[in-house]
Amino acid sequence: MSYVYGGFLSFLISSYNGDMLTNNKYVVIEGIDGAGKTTQKKLLVDYLQLNNQVVCDIKEPGGTRLGEEIRPIIKNSHIIRSAETDFELFNICRRELAQQVIRQELSLGHWVVCDRNWFSSLAYQGFGQGLSVESIVTQTKKSLTDLFLPDISIIIDLPIDVAFNRLRKRHDDVSSDNFESRGLDFYKKVRDGYLWLIKNYSIHKIDGQQSIETINQSIIELVQD
Ligand code: ADP
Ligand code: TYD
Repeated sequence: MSYVYGGFLSFLISSYNGDMLTNNKYVVIEGIDGAGKTTQKKLLVDYLQLNNQVVCDIKEPGGTRLGEEIRPIIKNSHIIRSAETDFELFNICRRELAQQVIRQELSLGHWVVCDRNWFSSLAYQGFGQGLSVESIVTQTKKSLTDLFLPDISIIIDLPIDVAFNRLRKRHDDVSSDNFESRGLDFYKKVRDGYLWLIKNYSIHKIDGQQSIETINQSIIELVQD
């Protein structure tokens, strides 16, 4: 992990994301609902904090005043809108999160650990809701510029039926949620979107059927590299 080496050496091994000095500390955890993102993000944040690191712990959509205001609109399935509008809402939240929070935290040398980013838009609005991959990638690049790719991107992959069983246990009324009520076929497409991302970008795939401890260990190894 870069901080182990201290100031000067840590500068030598840090990476540039476009013009942005990110110090290899920008981590995104992704996957379908129920994959284990919340669980793993918490364990990673705890680990980093135990090692005296400052961590910015965030989740999309949210993390800014605007994002928190838009989140309930996004999650309200009674507000009818198109897939394009869905993507634009997520993209607005994401751009503000990058500009107001992520950029600042990385420039201070802090870790940023985020639950979801534009990979979710590719999987849900692209593969799930039928928007073109090209339009999502093009618009996202414009919005995020030098933060387009995190230093460490992780997709926790899980068969849909296993994720659904986990979600049934987690929620009292699964159908009340806009996305979680969309059914197996929708989620199969979303999973295909994540598998497409793994093929096309430098993203680590982790088998979500392993134990919580095993997955946590794999993620710690990635941030220590
Ligand atoms: P997500 O944030 O991706 O929706 P969560 O972390 O909330 O997923 O996990 C969904 C449910 O599955 C929770 O009840 C959690 O305790 C459980 N869970 C998470 N990871 C595992 C795992 N590796 N094995 C078994 N159950 C898990
Ligand atoms: P949330 O309750 O945060 O779910 P989770 O804990 O699984 O992350 O709801 C976020 C929902 O929004 C989730 O179903 C995925 C979806 N989503 C998109 O469709 N596109 C996106 O760009 C993002 C960030 C999320």
